[in-house]
Amino acid sequence: MASPRYGWVEIDPGAIARNVRTLKALTPPGTAFMAVVKADGYGHGAVEAARASLGAGASWLGVATVDEALEIREAGLTGPLLILAEPPAEAVDLLVRHDITATVTTREFASALSRSAVRAGRQVPYHLKVDTGMNRIGVRVADVPDTVIWLRDLPGVVLDGVMTHFATADVPGDWEFARQVERFADVIAALRTERIRPRLAHAANSAATILHPETHHDMVRCGIAMYGLHPGGATYGRIDLAPAMSVKGRVSLVKRVGLGEGVSYGLTWQAPAPTTVATVPIGYADGVHRVLSNRMPVLIGGHRCRQIGRVCMDQLMVEVPDGLDVRLGDEVVLVGQQGEERIIMDELAGLADTINYEIACGFALRLERRFVGS
Ligand SMILES: Cc1ncc(COP(=O)(O)O)c(C=O)c1O
Repeated sequence: MASPRYGWVEIDPGAIARNVRTLKALTPPGTAFMAVVKADGYGHGAVEAARASLGAGASWLGVATVDEALEIREAGLTGPLLILAEPPAEAVDLLVRHDITATVTTREFASALSRSAVRAGRQVPYHLKVDTGMNRIGVRVADVPDTVIWLRDLPGVVLDGVMTHFATADVPGDWEFARQVERFADVIAALRTERIRPRLAHAANSAATILHPETHHDMVRCGIAMYGLHPGGATYGRIDLAPAMSVKGRVSLVKRVGLGEGVSYGLTWQAPAPTTVATVPIGYADGVHRVLSNRMPVLIGGHRCRQIGRVCMDQLMVEVPDGLDVRLGDEVVLVGQQGEERIIMDELAGLADTINYEIACGFALRLERRFVGS
């Protein structure tokens, strides 16, 4: 239990479960669902997000790092678990010991995994990542057949999946996306001619899962949408998602400032008239991006209020509109619903010139997470 503090994040695991069911309903029966819970479940809590999604029909979990995978195992979740990028070769014994499936992109890593599997007397599955055009990680398309044939001779390791990742699945009508889809299909066909049929071919992130059924293959890998957030403008109106995170605090001080007085570092906001100002003890160390200073809305008493002055490391200030009675301890909503008003993550992302993914991950920094029901 965290110590008392006037700032917290509320997570609704029921909303995550509903979103997983909604996303799964878009895929043909028999399609596996990977819940992507990296970056601490996009700020929602990896273990709780994993439990909620597994309960709603996910069968795989996806993470980014070995530590994230170990956290899942330490929580007692024993099912299929994939690290979505190739980890350092030094990690192979840990992976084998904890049944963590690795993504493979290099022969060096595959050899180390093979040696570890042989030492342990095990057959260890891996997923091969193919770079179909994002140019981030993966074996280049032209090198896949040779690489797979080389990998086939390694003892102790078994090709369980072949995967790729899209750079522009959220951009309607994008040519590069169509080319990635085609290249991935070509790779699968080329493997078939070598009589290599991995159990799972997978490519679709949230945007592709929602917008491009032809990319579903044997499994989809959803992150952002299972948290109730849209991967981009194109999915609005295509699916009903329930945001699972709200960010809340309490007013820690209310005061009057006089005409011309400034507020916060640099005194960038100056009172055009005597003004009531509320302080909220949440700042950029909690994930409120400083670039939102003097721009973001905040809900108090069911009203949209203006945040004023620079966002500090631990606190921010809000202009209380005339006639609104705000007192010490009143609830403040930075993201979520209060009365009839609502602030969504996308609104803050737009103001900060970033994406909802980054805003959501940021709130995990220092705020206590409270799990609530709906
Ligand atoms: C390899 C891979 N698959 C799936 C996802 C999930 O993507 P999204 O959150 O857009 O659904 C990610 C996230 O970045 C990823 O890196």
